[in-house]
Amino acid sequence: MKVKPIETADGSHSLYVESLDEHYHSTKGAVQESRHVFIEAGLKQKRQRPLKILEIGLGTGLNALLSIIERSKGQEIFYTALEKYPLPPEITDKLNYSRLLNVNEPWFSQIHHAVWAASQEIAPAFYVKKIETDLRNWEPEDTYDLVYFDAFGPDKQPEMWSVPIYQTVYDAMNPGGLLLTYTAKGAVRRGLEQVGFEVERLQGPPGKNHMTRARKEA
Ligand SMILES: C[S@@+](CC[C@H](N)C(=O)[O-])C[C@H]1O[C@@H](n2cnc3c(N)ncnc32)[C@H](O)[C@@H]1O
Repeated sequence: MKVKPIETADGSHSLYVESLDEHYHSTKGAVQESRHVFIEAGLKQKRQRPLKILEIGLGTGLNALLSIIERSKGQEIFYTALEKYPLPPEITDKLNYSRLLNVNEPWFSQIHHAVWAASQEIAPAFYVKKIETDLRNWEPEDTYDLVYFDAFGPDKQPEMWSVPIYQTVYDAMNPGGLLLTYTAKGAVRRGLEQVGFEVERLQGPPGKNHMTRARKEA
């Protein structure tokens, strides 16, 4: 997939996909959006340890980096990220997240240079496993407490927002697990409810009225 780097309104980088006319993050602020949707509404609500996170769409690796930075002290995390179109180093090496977030450790580069299909300790007690796959063919081998559902928008990539996919993800979640996504589209919320989630509409990050948090019953 051909991507073009851009700078968003909070100074953090993101990428534009010409073929979909879609951005990886909100143009109002990539870091601001990721923090709001996945960290504040997700990670910060789940202080259990160990914690197993599933990310749908590793992309730039921003959510993984923020999860390292924002996890609670000593929290052991197993982070699995699915990605169909891994970004080349020429792109990821230029992203400004480490500098912007004052990260002096090589975590961001290690996330991208980690081997695929194996769990690797990137930061103390933070293990990343990247899986190169199409979400539609993915067969879960583990269960998860927190899901960052960060696919391209339902209007741009409707095949990622279907009831069979929600069912696969629901079945791969532990009781009490949370799924976060930046969209609050009615069709998405209804699809999530259909497979058994309790769905909440939360305030969205700047530029978006709402976002969605879905919970699997404990
Ligand atoms: C909105 S971007 C967000 C990426 C990432 N979370 C980030 O913060 O940069 C969506 C991601 O989903 C990936 N993707 C698209 N289609 C996919 C598929 N069928 N299976 C798995 N990943 C896919 C894209 O390559 C892209 O990295």
